[in-house]
Amino acid sequence: MTDMKKLAARALLAVAFAAAAHGACAQAYPARPVTWVVPFAAGGPTDALARAMADRVARGLGQPIIIDNAPGAGGTVGTAKASRAAADGYTMLVGHMGYMGAAPALYKKLAYDPVKDFAPVFRFPDTPLVLMVRKEHPAKDIEALVGFGKANPDKLFISNAGVGSSSHLIAALFAASAGIKISQVPYKGAGPALVDVIGGQVDGIFDQTNTALPQIEEAKVRALAVTSKARLAQLKDVPTLGETVLPGFEASTWYGIYAPKGTPQAVLDKVQQAYLKVMRDKAFTDRLAEQAIQMLPPEQYTGSALGKHTEAEVMRWKAVAAKAHISLD
Ligand code: MLT
Repeated sequence: MTDMKKLAARALLAVAFAAAAHGACAQAYPARPVTWVVPFAAGGPTDALARAMADRVARGLGQPIIIDNAPGAGGTVGTAKASRAAADGYTMLVGHMGYMGAAPALYKKLAYDPVKDFAPVFRFPDTPLVLMVRKEHPAKDIEALVGFGKANPDKLFISNAGVGSSSHLIAALFAASAGIKISQVPYKGAGPALVDVIGGQVDGIFDQTNTALPQIEEAKVRALAVTSKARLAQLKDVPTLGETVLPGFEASTWYGIYAPKGTPQAVLDKVQQAYLKVMRDKAFTDRLAEQAIQMLPPEQYTGSALGKHTEAEVMRWKAVAAKAHISLD
């Protein structure tokens, strides 16, 4: 056999071994617990949804999924941490509209690129938000709250989960559209931010329904409006912003699971298949729907759909943030 043929044979053998190792890697995955980084404090809507999803996906993968809360700077601290993790499938990011969509428009020095540094794995269903005020606030409806904001510039204190969180972004869009000046009060997550609305330390919050509904049902806060296009079955008497003070207004928080760029595709496919199987379990999705979480068409749950959505959102928020003058403060 000539030297060239020997070289070709060795090259083919090397490729065959690599493919086998790659396949074996995916077959063996996961051989130990997996970590999902949640870049907000425990107790908020992202944390709650992530834990519900992790519990079910873990059963499909046969290994625990551990939630690592890594809060700070509207979720960008934890996201940067996840972007630096080994691309082996054992660390993934619970992504979100804020730090994976709007952040490039808000943070001039972002330590990661939502598109270049991550591989999208799958998308969660979306969650609309409820505008709630502390029980003692004088505004009894959304019109009165806008009137209060107009009469008392900078005196309507709205808590959020940090710059670029959906609670921050949607509050900023609400204020800009309603023509009022609010004072935004940042926390490390909507969990602690909501605690201070319940306690009366701040006036209000835009919080996702999965964590907002229990507090409303226990009358610990007052719901004034929802951000969904139509009223929510769980809050029939609460109007949408679109039918009251902000015609056409609609907003929800979207989420997805991302892996560090370079994670083997076979690993991503395995996680995605485990998730898609969970989303075919009607008993599980019915429980999410009871929290007013909005199911998506199945084809929108895939990694490729999430990738396209992420790119579109990064572009969209650049225009939205500029038009509404949303900035870091
Ligand atoms: C937000 O965008 O406000 C987050 O969802 C807050 C959180 O989940 O803690």
